Amino acid sequence: MATAPFPKLLIATHNAGKLREIQALLAPHGVEVVSADSLGLPVPDETEATFAGNALIKARAAAAASGLPSLSDDSGLEVFALGGDPGVRSADWAGEPRDFGRAMDEVLRRLAASGSADRSARFVSTLALVRPDGSAQVFEGEVRGTIADARRGTRGFGYDPIFIADGDSQTFGEIEPAEKYAKSHRTRAFELFVTAVFG
Ligand code: IMP
Repeated sequence: MATAPFPKLLIATHNAGKLREIQALLAPHGVEVVSADSLGLPVPDETEATFAGNALIKARAAAAASGLPSLSDDSGLEVFALGGDPGVRSADWAGEPRDFGRAMDEVLRRLAASGSADRSARFVSTLALVRPDGSAQVFEGEVRGTIADARRGTRGFGYDPIFIADGDSQTFGEIEPAEKYAKSHRTRAFELFVTAVFG
C-alpha cells in the first residue's frame, strides 16, 4: 500500500456518525486523523445548492483555519418521487435540535401523500479534499435503493433506518455496520479519493 502523501488529515465534520465512518475507512492508510470538533473549529454555513459546493465550503474553511489538508463530506438522501428531497438539505430536515426520527417520518408521510408507487432513492456522498495551498479535489459516490414502508433498526445514523440498498431486504439501520461500509455511498467516494491521493 502506498504511503500517505501527508501525515495528518483534518476531517472537516461535526457529525459524530460521519467521523466514525471516515476514521474506519482511513484506518488502513496510516494517516493521523484530527476532527474539526477536537480543534474547536466553527461550523461554516452551507450556502451552496450542490453537494460538491457545500463540501468545498467545509473543507476550505477547515484548511484555512488549521493549515492542515482537510477532508469534508457533504452527503444526503435523495428520494426521486419527492423531486430529490431531502437532498442537500438532508441535515436541515431534522431541525434543531436534530431529530432524524421526525425527518424520516416526514419522508414517509410525503411519499404516502405523493401517491407515487416509486420509492426509489439514493444516498450521495461528495468528498472534498482541500490542501493548505488552496488546491482542491472532489470525489462523489452513491448507493441506490428504496425507501422502506416504516423505520426499521437502530444502527447507523441519520436516515439509515428507512433506506434499503438495492439487492438487500433490510435497512441500513438493521444491517451490521461492516455490511453498510462495504456498499455505502461514502465508501464509494472514498475508493475514488484513496486511488487519487494514495495511489
Ligand atoms: P451534511 O452533509 O452534514 O450536510 O448532512 C448530511 C445529512 O445526510 C446527514 O446529517 C444525514 O442525515 C444524511 N446522511 C448522509 N449520509 C448518511 C448515511 O450514511 N446514513 C444516513 N443518513 C445519512
